[in-house]
Amino acid sequence: MNLNTDKIKNGKFVKFIKDAFIIDFSKPLSIKNQFMVMFVTLFVSTVLFTVVYFINNSQVNAQNPAVSTQGMAVESSDSKKLQSSSTQQSSVTKKKRLTVESTELLKKMTTIEKEHDEIYNGDMILVNKDHDCHHDGEDVVSLLNIKSNTYIVADDSVRVDKSIVDNVNRMFDDFYDIYGETDVMMACGYRSSSLQEELYTAEANAKGSETADSWVAPPGYSEHQTGFVFDLDLLIENGTSGIDYDGEGVYSWINTNCYRYGFILRYLQGKESITGYEYEPWHFRYVGVPAATYIMSKGITFEEYMQEIQKCSYEKPLVIYGDDGEIWCTYYVKAEEEGTTDIPVPQDYDYKVSGDNFSGFIVTVSIEGNGIEHDESNYESLAGTYDESKSDDNGTADEPYEPVYDEEPTENNAEEYLYDTEDTENDDNYDDYDEYDET
Ligand code: DAL
Ligand code: ZN
Repeated sequence: MNLNTDKIKNGKFVKFIKDAFIIDFSKPLSIKNQFMVMFVTLFVSTVLFTVVYFINNSQVNAQNPAVSTQGMAVESSDSKKLQSSSTQQSSVTKKKRLTVESTELLKKMTTIEKEHDEIYNGDMILVNKDHDCHHDGEDVVSLLNIKSNTYIVADDSVRVDKSIVDNVNRMFDDFYDIYGETDVMMACGYRSSSLQEELYTAEANAKGSETADSWVAPPGYSEHQTGFVFDLDLLIENGTSGIDYDGEGVYSWINTNCYRYGFILRYLQGKESITGYEYEPWHFRYVGVPAATYIMSKGITFEEYMQEIQKCSYEKPLVIYGDDGEIWCTYYVKAEEEGTTDIPVPQDYDYKVSGDNFSGFIVTVSIEGNGIEHDESNYESLAGTYDESKSDDNGTADEPYEPVYDEEPTENNAEEYLYDTEDTENDDNYDDYDEYDET
């Protein structure tokens, strides 16, 4: 220490450093020079390593928004799920190396045209207290005859958009494969505006309008009207009614894995001020696998996703990574106030376009793998098995499991066993739904 101070004082420190760096390699190196060569080599390597590490890390974070998806699954206490989440973990780690340059998309671009009112169509329409639904069940189908036997529907009035039937069936089939449970009941899917009005009025009369506003959407403003929504319930043992579904215990598998089938839990705990409604662990909304993957990995609401997506363009899309190696790019195109809107789309990739229900269009492109799904062609296979004339018969879909009841339900028809059949003929009649308070 004293030595250095003296050197600096005498101006010798500069000379010391100079001598150390000016090395004559034609002669044997002095101890001092050997030390300096080692020091410089070590220093330069450390700096290079640090720079490369930070550049690599920041690219991964920017391009891998769904990376926390595996974290979500790891929370499960179920061993099978833990097993599958460790597989996911390694595949996600591998995927970190993949990058998607937006220019790749731009290379071969074309445009398609959409009329303004098409912003009200598609499976990503946002319906909430600010945005009403412009549909009234045009494409819904009764699930009773086309559902798989791994879950129950309340009656033949339970309908969903035909494009999501396959996803619903697959989700409950996979749930059954893991847990062997078949007591999940779909209590309600599509609701007409008039049914919504009945529900709202009943709730307001019973509990006051403030409570009604927190639980039940006003007529015209319910997501149920889209056909992309369903409420779950649980069958109780004596088979006379449903009980509230809370998404706990084994059922937490459904609430945490629903995104794999394109569903999100729509009304989240702690997000009431954003969604406008209380926590509803039973209410699921289809938004497609890419959006659902992103939304649930981030723990955000559909409203927040819509805000985020509005910042994304064809040039700078949001990149989403799926659990099975899929890569999707998604972006927003604002609709022209009048006339048609030109929407940029890639020539070489599959994509789907959905309206957002208020200002524009959301394009989702499948870069790798699939998942742009459940369009008409996917429905074809199911449509073949759906026969309206057999609406009293519950069993055209695959039958991987037959539910077991304390008393046998009639002719493979658990719904008849649950409810007075006269009630099931009236779509809008929920009066005998003993404990029905899920909305
Ligand atoms: N319970 C939801 C908010 C609805 O009524 O649509
Ligand atoms: Zn609901």
